[in-house]
Amino acid sequence: MAGDRLSLLIALADLGHKAANPRLEAGGYPVCVLLNGMNGMPALGRMMTDEQVAEVVNYVRTHFGNSYVDRVTAEEVKAVR
Ligand code: HEM
Repeated sequence: MAGDRLSLLIALADLGHKAANPRLEAGGYPVCVLLNGMNGMPALGRMMTDEQVAEVVNYVRTHFGNSYVDRVTAEEVKAVR
């Protein structure tokens, strides 16, 4: 059932995502995880533009208890891709 699959996805995502994550300090780290994936984490960045990857990384790094104010740029994402 679609609802069950959604619950499974949310549970999987929960495994890897925690609030106030010190591993997000270097912006290049979440960029790499998004572009390449990591074990259970899908390489979602392959479906996104450089701008979209930069925006979601900047959002995550300044929300959920994270307050890293330096911003990742689309150019940096392009260089990693
Ligand atoms: C745009 C949305 C997402 C972003 C920005 C994102 C970002 C990240 C980052 C930065 C990590 C590394 C965390 C760490 O090292 O402490 C991570 C891990 C993980 N993510 Fe995501 N993620 C996203 C969506 C998803 C989705 C949709 C799923 C599941 C379907 C998922 C599953 C996981 C899992 C299982 C891990 C742990 C991988 C491991 O430790 O081996 N993520 N994610």
